[in-house]
Amino acid sequence: LGIMANQNQSIDEDTCILLADELGIEIDMEEPNLDESVEEEYGLLKKDKERDLKLRPPVVTVMGHVDHGKTSLLDSIKSTHVTQSEAGGITQHIGAYTVNLSGKKITFLDTPGHEAFTSMRLRGAQTTDIAVLVVAADDGVMPQTVEAISHARSADVPIIVAITKIDKPEANPEKVKQDLMNENLVAEEWGGDTIVVGVSSKTGEGIDELLEMILLVAEMKELKANPNRQAIGTIIEANLDKSKGPMATILIKNGTLRFGDSIVSGICSGRIRAMEDGPSMPVVVLGLNDVPNAGDTIYAVKDDKTAKAIADKNAEISREKRLSQTTKISLDNLFEKISEEDVKELNIVVKADVKGSVEALNQSLLKLSTEEVKISIIHSGVGGINESDVTLAGASNAFIVGFNVRPTNTAKSQADAEGVDIRLYNIIYKVMDDVEAAMKGMLEPTYEEKVTGNLTVRETWKVSKIGTIAGAFVDN
Ligand code: GTP
Ligand code: MG
Repeated sequence: LGIMANQNQSIDEDTCILLADELGIEIDMEEPNLDESVEEEYGLLKKDKERDLKLRPPVVTVMGHVDHGKTSLLDSIKSTHVTQSEAGGITQHIGAYTVNLSGKKITFLDTPGHEAFTSMRLRGAQTTDIAVLVVAADDGVMPQTVEAISHARSADVPIIVAITKIDKPEANPEKVKQDLMNENLVAEEWGGDTIVVGVSSKTGEGIDELLEMILLVAEMKELKANPNRQAIGTIIEANLDKSKGPMATILIKNGTLRFGDSIVSGICSGRIRAMEDGPSMPVVVLGLNDVPNAGDTIYAVKDDKTAKAIADKNAEISREKRLSQTTKISLDNLFEKISEEDVKELNIVVKADVKGSVEALNQSLLKLSTEEVKISIIHSGVGGINESDVTLAGASNAFIVGFNVRPTNTAKSQADAEGVDIRLYNIIYKVMDDVEAAMKGMLEPTYEEKVTGNLTVRETWKVSKIGTIAGAFVDN
């Protein structure tokens, strides 16, 4: 049938039917067994009744450019607002903690990078209710600030801006607000609807105001959960501790987790040895038989047997899934996807070497939108294609256009693993041609770049007439 497949590979349904027909075999197609079906089968997804729902604390992620003061801000909040005494043996919440503001609670997720934020969303675990965007008053909006904004927006999470380091003599909060305007975040005092608070982690100025603003936004969102049910949570972090075994920090999304509860997450199961905690509370659990995946959901179930049964079933499903991976959108299969799967929106991440090109590309690409397919640039920026770009593209089923830039080695291998399409160009109209042709299903065969080696440039010299000479070190 023109398909090369070895004995360990899966073939698609149509081929299977054709082949069976040829061989005179009758086949019965079974509906694919998805994760949800396991969750449903065991009644893990039962909806809460409105009257059982109680307000829960907001879960907040702090994001921003390198060195703009994320860690300092969290430390400053922690040192003034986290209560030290906690029930149970484990007092330290790794990766997440809860602050107390005159009786009201806020949980902060200490995620290190935007990748972590989006890869959690990628697994369907929307953990964050509010994003705090940190921008240093002495530096303004930088590439990773823009990246953070894109990630928060694509997750549809409200953004509160914290302008940090306002104690510095060279601080210029007005310039920051100006910069933010260019990213369509208009401060309230300038007639927009973005809450902007100036803070200093050194003097503590503005910190209380920031926390109050977070509570205000949370109140408007009316975040609710049912504390009186078996717990459902998200794995924030997990690792293998030499003496304690698998340890997982989880954020409880609904219900209450108790000491001795049977738990299951993906293919791991076990019984809890930790203290009790309710919705929006981070908690460390011990007692799983293996290290679970960050971003996966964890459930408390009625007994150990059930936990084990679900874990086994999940293991079976993940094996099957690995064999039949779904393909992401690429320029090559775009037309097919548009016609077969009714794709209505084409998401693109744009990276280029200079700001001018980024803007030119964005504008020209947006103009290619047709009645059938809307083009949407989910992120664009100056600089090479990094892991964060690939993660974002993967989560949003987007492809990446690189103009006069290339992916880093890690970004490239991540893109290969996740099936994210990266297209590199150095002529703008060629980008338009390709995207337009792909939308019409008339893309010509492309030239693939084969990497023969990698160098690290150590030094460069400019020589008139010849150009720039690079002294490089061969990596591989
Ligand atoms: P990465 O984790 O590397 O992305 O950095 P970060 O955003 O966590 O920044 P961090 O909190 O490490 O702060 C970077 C530097 O800025 C440190 O030297 C801090 O002391 C300084 N800094 C942070 N906040 C303030 C502030 O409010 N005022 C002053 N004067 N300095 C600050
Ligand atoms: Mg930090």
